[in-house]
Amino acid sequence: MKLHTVAELLSSDITLQDIEIKGWVRTFRANRFIALNDGSTINNIQCVVDFENTDEATLKRITTGAAIHIKGELVESQGKGQSVEIQVKTIDILGDSHPDEYPIQPKKHSFEFLRENAHLRTRTSTFSAVMRLRSSLSFAIHKYFNENGFYYMHTPIITGSDAEGAGEMFRVSALDAKNPPLTEDGKVNYKEDFFGKETNLTVSGQLEAETYAMSLGKVYTFGPTFRAENSNTSRHLAEFWMIEPEVAFMDLAGNMDLAEDFMKSVLSYVLEHNMDDLKFLENRLLDEEKTKPQAERSEMSLIEKLKFVVDNNFKRVSYTEAIDILRNSKPNKKKKFNYIIEEWGADLQSEHERYLVEKHFKCPVILFDYPANIKAFYMRLNEDGKTVRAMDILFPGIGEIVGGSQREERLDVLKEKMKALDIEEEELWWYLDLRKYGTAVHSGFGLGFERLVMFATGMGNIRDVIPYPRTPQNAEF
Ligand code: 4AD
Ligand code: MG
Repeated sequence: MKLHTVAELLSSDITLQDIEIKGWVRTFRANRFIALNDGSTINNIQCVVDFENTDEATLKRITTGAAIHIKGELVESQGKGQSVEIQVKTIDILGDSHPDEYPIQPKKHSFEFLRENAHLRTRTSTFSAVMRLRSSLSFAIHKYFNENGFYYMHTPIITGSDAEGAGEMFRVSALDAKNPPLTEDGKVNYKEDFFGKETNLTVSGQLEAETYAMSLGKVYTFGPTFRAENSNTSRHLAEFWMIEPEVAFMDLAGNMDLAEDFMKSVLSYVLEHNMDDLKFLENRLLDEEKTKPQAERSEMSLIEKLKFVVDNNFKRVSYTEAIDILRNSKPNKKKKFNYIIEEWGADLQSEHERYLVEKHFKCPVILFDYPANIKAFYMRLNEDGKTVRAMDILFPGIGEIVGGSQREERLDVLKEKMKALDIEEEELWWYLDLRKYGTAVHSGFGLGFERLVMFATGMGNIRDVIPYPRTPQNAEF
């Protein structure tokens, strides 16, 4: 007999004589009703136990969290809330779950508590919904690029370069800890880290992706990236996944078009394929909203927000225009900006970004042409000599979700820029080669995958959209 899934059975419009299913008990009521889940859907299937003909010892072992195997019949449900249910013929306990010890009891647990039990939290409805959406978004991303002529490229995790030039790198060392090589003045010689080279975990696959774009035309990466920044915010992780497309012969305007089309496409994919999970998460948020004062409640529900992004154009605004808006803004009396931007050239804080998106434009915003001095070395300098062809996409509730640019394709300008920033040419000789041999206009961007998952699920903390978050406090699992 074939094993069925809960998703299959719940969508069956016919009764079935012999069905067989395995899953985990969510609840067991009145010695009779099991709510069973197997991960295939947010919904549980009700399994009705014939308790008069089931031995007492077995009934006792049907506890929350236990793994069970049921054979029975799929029938029309007598109860409200479900159209079908299983009449149990035989039940086997595959794995017990001690009711006094199992941490995930059927009640509301705080997200903090669940983070400490990250290995079990996917047994809850909320986390299983988030992780199914994460998987779906990941598939939608590969699908989009595949259908649009991109090649998937695997960039190295261990590297000698600091793509962002921000120095936020985790060192990778193959040194013998007990007997490390020393410098002349007796200190550990990290220049010897990795068989004669200083190495780190990658902060971005961009530079390597650029090399492939300059032969394959359109490529993308989708892999883990690492930032050794000590920022304890709800939007930063030390290990996160990034999607980085890179395209030859494409300028900044083309880059914006690509990013917007791409974001809309992956969000429409989940609207089409993950409605049950989205509805569950939407209801969770609506309950949470009820505890807030009216004025602070969101105007749109989760699904409305996703549809809004899919159906409306992103607003494109230059950094200079944004600064004017911020200077002339009157942030409300209670919540003033901590820091009012007076000087052109200052970097935007997340409160500024959120003001632009949530209060001023009320839609996703693409900010472009940033001052050169606040952006990475590889961005294309504009004719004005002071701005670069950078773009950040800002999303409501998230802030920066995408960062990208047109790349500096002129060898002499790039060399000058590196010199000014003390980046040695020997370090990036291969990157400079691209500008020597067949250079061309090219562009790309990086999407922080977890920030996308946050937006699509409405989760407020980035630690709750990745299975095992790596933050300054947490690397236990
Ligand atoms: O803006 P970033 O640093 O850009 C780059 O790394 C470029 N090399 C991308 C490119 O042009 N190919 O990072 C890109 C995105 C950010 O917009 C943000 O969504 C996410 O990556 N991100 C983080 N997400 C979680 N935790 C962190 N610490 C993050 N840092 C960046
Ligand atoms: Mg950025």
